[in-house]
Amino acid sequence: MPGTNNTKLLFYEEYEQFYKMTGGSKAFGAFCRDAFGKDFSQDGFSDIDQINRILKLIPAGEDIHILDVGCGNGKMLGYLQDKTGAFIHGFDYSRNAIEIARDNFQTRADFRQGNIGEVVYPGEHFDLVISMDTMYFAPDMEEFVLQIMRWLKKDGVLFVGYQEGDVMPKTDNERTTVLANAFDKCRIRYEVENITRETYDLLKRKREAALLHKKEFEEEGNKDWFDMLMLQTDCITDTYDVFAQQMARYIYVARKTC
Ligand SMILES: C[S@@+](CC[C@H](N)C(=O)[O-])C[C@H]1O[C@@H](n2cnc3c(N)ncnc32)[C@H](O)[C@@H]1O
Repeated sequence: MPGTNNTKLLFYEEYEQFYKMTGGSKAFGAFCRDAFGKDFSQDGFSDIDQINRILKLIPAGEDIHILDVGCGNGKMLGYLQDKTGAFIHGFDYSRNAIEIARDNFQTRADFRQGNIGEVVYPGEHFDLVISMDTMYFAPDMEEFVLQIMRWLKKDGVLFVGYQEGDVMPKTDNERTTVLANAFDKCRIRYEVENITRETYDLLKRKREAALLHKKEFEEEGNKDWFDMLMLQTDCITDTYDVFAQQMARYIYVARKTC
């Protein structure tokens, strides 16, 4: 992107490599289907149950606009559009991801390459903003939450999948996270659900699915990604109680009321 030095941003090169790999790896697609129930090229914890919860928040109508912050290659948005016909918008700092998204989704779609805090949309534009495992990268959480609220139409909804113990440190509970603190400071009311137990089970499925497709990863020359999946899921060798002391997952839903 002109004027910015993305290589200095957290994990920038890693995500460029990740989306390059997902674009060509049959093993990773099969892994995602087995682990998450659907292949959205997930790098994280968003299984199909979480994404289907989003569907329930999309209003019926002709002029519905959804934004995904950290949209990767756009597959999650493609699924939501397929189910609802909504206009889909996404942004992500990964050039590789956005190129794939633009190739794959050309109808009623707008994909932009850019950084959180730098990408701008008009006010009152979206019915729904989703962000799965990406809010952590906001340079200023309060500022970014307020910006999203400005982008939402009245009664619009922000839906966030949020993990602790991974990029963000583990805090006491769902009311003490950096995101919850930002909502509180900005006087934004929200509902939150603790899905840590489901996430422990998901991580088990991720490990099993990676092992199932180990040979395909190796044959494709993607053994490094298999090793990464093993490392990421090593935590489920602990009991659930030990896991839950170190990690947590929450779904936040905030509605713009005025
Ligand atoms: C953990 S992944 C989640 C991707 C996808 N939402 C999912 O659930 O699988 C984080 C995403 O945020 C993007 N990202 C990270 N930092 C960013 C930033 N500062 N600005 C924009 N996108 C960023 C990455 O390229 C990646 O697609």
